[in-house]
Amino acid sequence: MKNRLFIVVQIIGCLSQGFGFSGGLCPAGFSCRNFKNSSPPIPCPPGTFSVLGQHDCTPCAPGYYTNHSASESCAVCEAGFMCPFANQNPVACPVGTYTSCTRQSCCSVCPVGTYNTRIASTDCEKCPAGASCRPASPPSCGEFKLETIFRSVQ
Ligand SMILES: *[C@@H]1O[C@H](CO)[C@@H](O)[C@H](O)[C@H]1NC(C)=O
Repeated sequence: MKNRLFIVVQIIGCLSQGFGFSGGLCPAGFSCRNFKNSSPPIPCPPGTFSVLGQHDCTPCAPGYYTNHSASESCAVCEAGFMCPFANQNPVACPVGTYTSCTRQSCCSVCPVGTYNTRIASTDCEKCPAGASCRPASPPSCGEFKLETIFRSVQ
């Protein structure tokens, strides 16, 4: 009971003190997790975002990205691109690969018997009769580094 009261007092203290921003709300794009130490809000690192009043930064969902700090939202990865890293800009699908949907973290290799000749493709064409279309090598996508982002937020 005492503990709970202490936390409430602490929170109210924080809200009334504020950080010099309106209403004592944590500003969008910033983390206020260190409010105990009266430290000012910290910009959300690239790959994360926060909305007004949110105390911690949230990592972009897979298939979304933001390459700058203090983001209020993440942008959707468009079809024809992949977003393997939430803190980096989308990468165009290499020739011979594609993404037909938005929000992809990796491009798919054109299925056997199909091909394309342009980067940032959203589909593949049928291999012409009599021609041989060799599959492209899979793009290097890495892993979605959710853990890394969490660590950098903390
Ligand atoms: C973020 O993306 C913009 C637009 O492509 C680019 O100009 C800028 O250099 C990027 N910033 C970082 C930190 O990578």
